[in-house]
Amino acid sequence: METIQQLHNNIKEATEYIKSQIDFRPEIGIILGTGLGSLVDGIELAGTVEYENIPHFPTSTVESHAGRLLFGTLRGKKVICMQGRFHFYEGYSFKQIVFPVWVMKELGMKTLIASNAAGGLNPNFKAGDIMLIKDHINFFPGSPLIGPNDNNMGPRFPDMYEVYNKEFLGLARETALKQNLHIQEGVYIGLTGPCLETAAEYRMFRILGGDAVGMSTVPEVIAAHHQGNKVLAFSIITDMGLPDNMHPCSIEEVIKIAGEAEPKLRELIARCVEGM
Ligand code: HPA
Repeated sequence: METIQQLHNNIKEATEYIKSQIDFRPEIGIILGTGLGSLVDGIELAGTVEYENIPHFPTSTVESHAGRLLFGTLRGKKVICMQGRFHFYEGYSFKQIVFPVWVMKELGMKTLIASNAAGGLNPNFKAGDIMLIKDHINFFPGSPLIGPNDNNMGPRFPDMYEVYNKEFLGLARETALKQNLHIQEGVYIGLTGPCLETAAEYRMFRILGGDAVGMSTVPEVIAAHHQGNKVLAFSIITDMGLPDNMHPCSIEEVIKIAGEAEPKLRELIARCVEGM
């Protein structure tokens, strides 16, 4: 197992490399999920750094995900975007998955905004909806915080009080209203994938209290919260997991629906950033 010192050194080396490439202190980190890549279009670009050039950074294996950090200004705020994230189903460890979050923190991040594509469990939802994540259930078989704890990063036993920042939830609701955009809100269940769920599993996850299921976000949010970042997160509901109304669902469909909903979410996130 990696020692605290090794992890610390790896984060430092990655950060030093990035700083050698670009002189920019971002305050807001944004993780772009499936089909949401063009969220960056509204950003006044200051520079990019490819994942593959950053020491100790994992590299992305999924075709639909680019692999770079993007720096720039969005509605007057300095942001860093992860274009491409890492998933447990790709074979990465939880510590690899959240390594970029730790590096973004070291670069100055105070706030994390995450987005993802998710399957809807709440029968009031429909494909194409945007869901504000108000809480999560960690259904992954682990956590990025397992192992020795670095007390300089965060507490050994972080509480999960208001992980999804209450002011940000209010800001997102208010912003959506002003935008004339109806958004849903609910509980996101994070799990491994890569299979989508069986009808019995969708039923179970609904009974357990989930409004949506997906294969990301929870590890990154745990790591960000551990370090005291404020978190705001959204899902695009790309397909409905209704146990009594199952139909085939392809990744192409998921990407298509995410892409169609993306302009709404792009504007919502930009306005939220403006209001932070
Ligand atoms: N299940 C899990 N992850 C997903 C889904 C789903 O139905 N849709 C998009 N990501």
